[in-house]
Amino acid sequence: MENFEPEIVAFCCHYCAYTAADMAGSKRISYPPNVKIIRVPCTGKVDAIHMMKAFEKGADGVYVAGCLEGDCHFKNGNTRAGYRVAYVQKILEELGWEKDRLAMITMSAGMGERFARTAREFTEKIKELGPSPIKQFNTDTHQQAAG
Ligand code: FES
Repeated sequence: MENFEPEIVAFCCHYCAYTAADMAGSKRISYPPNVKIIRVPCTGKVDAIHMMKAFEKGADGVYVAGCLEGDCHFKNGNTRAGYRVAYVQKILEELGWEKDRLAMITMSAGMGERFARTAREFTEKIKELGPSPIKQFNTDTHQQAAG
């Protein structure tokens, strides 16, 4: 699809990825505006339904960005988030979607460059995959209705 600009939702842990995004900003490291950040107190608070809702609401790609292994401020929220991401990836595959539309990423608060690189790379990956099947379905339906 020409000129496709994906909508990407990033659930970012307050203690790491969100702070890393802030750091990227203060160091003037740019990342694509396609990535919309939702700050969460810990990735352990991100449930499967939140990921699915993001897709339902129009996201072409979703990632959950939490603290490095062993660094979660709530003990194992990032591990639980990783399990949930893997679970939702399986659901996506069963629906015939590409599981790579969803990812779990970890980083520390000081990794502003990593945050920006992740945002760029994930955006590029979703550009290659194209619009989400929900968007494609809506576009096709709209075109059929228009005649
Ligand atoms: Fe960052 Fe749990 S506090 S993932």
